[in-house]
Amino acid sequence: MSTKFNFFKEAVKNYKTSGTIVPSSRFLANKMLKNVNFSTANLIVELGPGNGAVTKQILKKLQPHTTLVCFEINDAFYNELLLIDHPQLKVIKASAEFLEIELEKIGLGAVDYIVSSIPLSILPKELSVAILKESFSVLKKEGLFIQFQYTLFYYKELKKIFSKNISLSFEPINFPPAFIYYCAKK
Ligand SMILES: C[S@@+](CC[C@H](N)C(=O)[O-])C[C@H]1O[C@@H](n2cnc3c(N)ncnc32)[C@H](O)[C@@H]1O
Repeated sequence: MSTKFNFFKEAVKNYKTSGTIVPSSRFLANKMLKNVNFSTANLIVELGPGNGAVTKQILKKLQPHTTLVCFEINDAFYNELLLIDHPQLKVIKASAEFLEIELEKIGLGAVDYIVSSIPLSILPKELSVAILKESFSVLKKEGLFIQFQYTLFYYKELKKIFSKNISLSFEPINFPPAFIYYCAKK
């Protein structure tokens, strides 16, 4: 990771898609990952990795048989992610709404876990709903969609797609403190 990289500057410049001004804490990243079974997961997808705050925590826990695919739309963040040298990491510069087709292009599908930092509540509604539908569709039957948000406003939209089982957690050691949703497909 380049030390010169200025997350704050890039995030402020693109606030409508970053939804924050500082990277997530490792406490938030690790709480997002607490329900991930790294010993059984074959494919983990991360949406909105930014400059890699959550990505780095996933990579620390990744087992040799697992692939991590990251989807990022921001050029500067994408270029930063390319600096992470890890044989099991694939970084795709595409929007999360194209998850299925982009995974197909690299011969992957059937996702075990989706770990998302995308600021769903500030995106245009059609886009955030498209991302949720796409996520639901690529997940395995036993799959889990994990999303953090700074408010509880988006709960009802998540519930429309992941109607079966949503549990909630909270991480105070983050700026701002964040809620985490664990949305089971079945
Ligand atoms: C809140 S930042 C999170 C960055 C990092 N994961 C963290 O937690 O510090 C949200 C990220 O989502 C990315 N993003 C926004 N819309 C996206 C989309 N449609 N597809 C993929 N990434 C997107 C932004 O560029 C930004 O990097």
